[in-house]
Amino acid sequence: MENKKIPRHVAIIMDGNGRWAQRRGLPRHMGHKVGAESVRDVIRVSLEVGVEYLTLFAFSTENWTRPQEEVMGLMHLLKFLIRREVESLNREGVSIRVIGRVHKLPPDVLEELKRAMEMTKDNTRLYLYLALSYGGRAEIVDAVNRIISEGVKEIDEESFRHYLYAPEAPYPDLLIRTAGEKRISNFLLWQLAYTELYFTDVLWPDFRRDEYLKAIEDYARRVRRFGGVVEGRS
Ligand code: IPE
Ligand code: IPE
Ligand code: MG
Repeated sequence: MENKKIPRHVAIIMDGNGRWAQRRGLPRHMGHKVGAESVRDVIRVSLEVGVEYLTLFAFSTENWTRPQEEVMGLMHLLKFLIRREVESLNREGVSIRVIGRVHKLPPDVLEELKRAMEMTKDNTRLYLYLALSYGGRAEIVDAVNRIISEGVKEIDEESFRHYLYAPEAPYPDLLIRTAGEKRISNFLLWQLAYTELYFTDVLWPDFRRDEYLKAIEDYARRVRRFGGVVEGRS
């Protein structure tokens, strides 16, 4: 791939694990398990092409309403994957971070995450944000409550931004959603204001290297205007 116009920050709504499994007559958790391989692929490709920030929507505030068995299965898988992958991610220079109401996560999962974040905190090659128990509205409400508790009287867009979960991250350049749904589902509501959107019918467990590269190539062809005028382009 040409090295031009690589998105600096990619955010992904990893959807379609359940349908992937259903189509094969498998239980939903198999879809989540195979979907984890797609996560490995997008991390690897991000490192190769020079994406600096990757935010993965892994579990939403609304996903808590799923059957207890699925929720527990996902939490267990998350813990297992972090434990299995953290050493190699660390070697590759990946810094693991989380956004969301993570205090809602089971204590053992939170412990595993903290260990991974601590181990990888000085890495700078790729910032990997896991959105867990994450909701865009919850993030905005949490920010507002912090602003109130600090007694701040006035705020503007730039100062508001510092109260978000990851103020150090630039806003996403590219949002990818797999599995055909064309909605945001309460992801990064504030941050996506000028993000390029890419939707594909491919289900998350099938979203591997080539599909990701296709999305990045599509992004490279876009003209971003941010409400302004770009000379020589219409
Ligand atoms: C995405 O796949 C993974 C999570 C939301 C945790 P889904 O589980 O939503 O799969 P579908 O949408 O039911 O196919
Ligand atoms: C969005 O997918 C959340 C994650 C990918 C973690 P959902 O499957 O929860 O979204 P809806 O229910 O189709 O909007
Ligand atoms: Mg879904």
